[in-house]
Amino acid sequence: MSVVVLIGCQWGDEGKGKVVDYFARKADVVVRFQGGNNAGHTLVVAGEQLILHLVPSGILHPNKLCIIGNGVVIDPEVLLEEIELLKAKGHLTDDSRLKISDRAHLILPYHRALDLAAENKKGSAKIGTTGRGIGPSYSDKASRSGLRFGLLKNPDLLKDKLEKAIEEKNQYLTKIFKAEPIDPEKAQKKFNAYSKKLSGYAENTGLLLSRLVKEGKKVLFEGAQGTMLDLDHGTYPFVTSSNTVSANAAIGSGIGPKLIDRIVGVSKAYTTRVGAGPFPTELKDELGEKLRERGGEYGATTGRPRRCGWIDMVQLKYAVRLNSLTDLVVTKLDVLSGIDPLKVCVGYKYKGEPLEDFPAEAEVLEEVEPVYKELKGWKEDINGAKEFKDLPFTARDYLKFIQDELAVPLLAVSVGKEREQIITLGEPF
Ligand code: GDP
Ligand code: IMO
Ligand code: MG
Repeated sequence: MSVVVLIGCQWGDEGKGKVVDYFARKADVVVRFQGGNNAGHTLVVAGEQLILHLVPSGILHPNKLCIIGNGVVIDPEVLLEEIELLKAKGHLTDDSRLKISDRAHLILPYHRALDLAAENKKGSAKIGTTGRGIGPSYSDKASRSGLRFGLLKNPDLLKDKLEKAIEEKNQYLTKIFKAEPIDPEKAQKKFNAYSKKLSGYAENTGLLLSRLVKEGKKVLFEGAQGTMLDLDHGTYPFVTSSNTVSANAAIGSGIGPKLIDRIVGVSKAYTTRVGAGPFPTELKDELGEKLRERGGEYGATTGRPRRCGWIDMVQLKYAVRLNSLTDLVVTKLDVLSGIDPLKVCVGYKYKGEPLEDFPAEAEVLEEVEPVYKELKGWKEDINGAKEFKDLPFTARDYLKFIQDELAVPLLAVSVGKEREQIITLGEPF
């Protein structure tokens, strides 16, 4: 097994960063393939916390190659800050360990401005985006007017394209959204500096990755966001602007789909979501508050409180199908200690009738009634559990129930923030 894709099964923030950092020990290459700095992936190693937005979560291990693939949208300002932060902390000592696709799209200042302006205009129908310019950058990619990372290697052409683009986007900003225009001179100055500092990372990463896979190198793909935020399959329109499902690992990196050997899905032991949109098992009561406080459920990118609720088998079965999951990792099991009974959603009813599959319309999902099964909780603190048998009997039962319902074997269980607070039942490679 040499190519493993790891994705989030819920609405993001499942703990993908932590699990990628852990499994990266055995990998040679770690690859981001979609999303941008809307992602916030938290790593905690020896008590020190680091939140990554763009650089793959393998970067803390010396000697791993980290690739940002063509499917990612890159805000050069954020990328530069992240690279500088990593270097200041003594990581990324060798620049050749980070490669960035020349085909990845740039997030430009007007994308951020348009994201915020469009959200403001929506009023109560807001998506609750991260405001990082993700949607507008992917829109430009789809409408064939985006600027790509490789352009940083050609500053004269970049200057020309940027000038035209700013002129056009300022029309939208000022005339349609009544927002402030982008200052072209300031933007040109910044992008000139990015060209100098970042163009050295640009490369044909699809070709590089294909060669590495052929050589038998172990590659770990790191998904961002989660399955329910997928542009096609998620809770549209309350989704992000990229495909977050496993199939996009191939498109977003430039390798063929047949090269993927294994697909690991990460799910919290409960459910959370940030931003607006339907969430059938949401707990709007004290218990929801308790989960938020115990789980530290505040967005790693925006700091917004995350909405919390019970784990949902209807939603997770949908994620199993969409991603062809071969393995399951459950995170944050420790957060459930002391909550008894535990509820697991095992079905949805809509207008009194059971629903067969996850509905397409946000309006229907907003009204579904979850059907719950109660399972016994446990009181013990499980932060120190090292093996499956160290877990209380009822915690093991909870995990077995999830595994059996989803018919996907459990690969690991995370019981704390730290890199080593994880119980493994197998190895992905
Ligand atoms: P990602 O976007 O999927 O990488 O997840 P985030 O980093 O946005 O959010 C996950 C949060 O949960 C972070 O604060 C992690 O440090 C934390 N975390 C991850 N795994 C565990 C766990 O097993 N237990 C606890 N208590 N916290 C965890
Ligand atoms: P990670 O990788 C959780 C959500 C936003 C909003 C919607 C659209 O850390 O799991 P966008 O800025 O992408 O246009 O916002 O998607 N969202 C996330 N929620 N985790 C993330 O990333 C997210 N990235 C985007 O809150 O609801
Ligand atoms: Mg996150």
